[in-house]
Amino acid sequence: MQPQIERYRGREQSYIKHILLNKYLEAAAYKLLQPRRGAPVFNFVDAFAGPWRVSDRDDFSDASFSQALITLDTVRQQLIKMGRPGLRVRYRFCERNQESFVKLRQFAAERQEFDIQVFQGSFEDNIDEIAATCRDGFTFTFIDPTGWNIRSNRVFSFLRNLNGEFLFNFMAEDINRHSGWEGVSESVGRFLADPAWKHEFQNLPRDWPNERKILHLLKTKMKESGIATYLPEIAILRPRDERVKMRLLLGTHHVRGVHVFRTVQKVVEAEAVSVRQNIKVEQSGQPSLFPSSQIVEIEADRGGVSCPAHVERATEMLCCIVNQTPGIGYENLTGMVMELVPVRTPDLNKIAVTLRNAGRLKFDLPPRKRTPLPGTRIFPV
Ligand SMILES: C[S@@+](CC[C@H](N)C(=O)[O-])C[C@H]1O[C@@H](n2cnc3c(N)ncnc32)[C@H](O)[C@@H]1O
Repeated sequence: MQPQIERYRGREQSYIKHILLNKYLEAAAYKLLQPRRGAPVFNFVDAFAGPWRVSDRDDFSDASFSQALITLDTVRQQLIKMGRPGLRVRYRFCERNQESFVKLRQFAAERQEFDIQVFQGSFEDNIDEIAATCRDGFTFTFIDPTGWNIRSNRVFSFLRNLNGEFLFNFMAEDINRHSGWEGVSESVGRFLADPAWKHEFQNLPRDWPNERKILHLLKTKMKESGIATYLPEIAILRPRDERVKMRLLLGTHHVRGVHVFRTVQKVVEAEAVSVRQNIKVEQSGQPSLFPSSQIVEIEADRGGVSCPAHVERATEMLCCIVNQTPGIGYENLTGMVMELVPVRTPDLNKIAVTLRNAGRLKFDLPPRKRTPLPGTRIFPV
């Protein structure tokens, strides 16, 4: 489901955020279709649901919970048409603000045909109740706070105990601006699930901006907590001044999740370029010299997923990892590279074969196979 851009005037970054959420959710729900016994269950948890700064006050069509509901229900109906056993979807929404909670409850009450439960209060205080309602199935959790004021140790304990993935909105701009200030030291400690974070922070390279340091500490903590093996991210810019507003992190234990994320990222990047382009044209009052599709292509080639620069970086990284861990399994290797560099599995397959032909890598291929299998062991030459 593609949200309507007109509803997002002045906060187009939320439009881009919602496209990523919807596209990833759609792919994740279809993924559950892989042959399995019984009807698959998909739990969608919108932990910081809103509604928040919406322009559609009737249907909340520009709110994450409403869009997720339409996206997942469309997948469910598609599956029925395809003759697959119906996907069961549970919607669990949590909101701390009283006024927003009332609206959320009303939204649910008007949609009795869906399995929606709404929780009032902070997500951190509701995790046991929410977890109890999604014990089985795959759980996708969307964590979209307004800043960094969250108790991550509670959030991590929720994510650790469920089978699933999460999308975490890291509010880069706010964190960059404020996290160096002594007055927020305690709240940043809660965000990083580490009251003694300052020590490590100070040891990170001095030329890193604050947000990069905090993101590094957060990702390290997330991995230590066992909530994710891979944490690929995409930066979302403020379309009017092109500064990074937020970073969306996917938390997953599966290489396939990273590949799907990078694939969705490509679509999102194209949409973001075209939104920025339209704003530029509108602001200047001059028509663009090039069609929007051409600008999207130029930008994609300059710095988008699978662009030449990223392929080159992925090649270097792949060689470096193989040199350090000779015999590493191919699936592991691709996960490690794709997490850090925006490329996709077919790019890595091409890179691996090229390096093998050039005599820089060794691996055995089964008869009639042209690219490594997930378990293929890769060695340096
Ligand atoms: C950025 S808004 C969410 C926007 C929504 N996810 C969307 O994309 O349409 C964050 C929301 O979380 C709520 N909130 C803040 N802290 C919370 C907490 N600890 N637990 C649950 N909700 C919280 C705020 O009241 C606000 O409505």
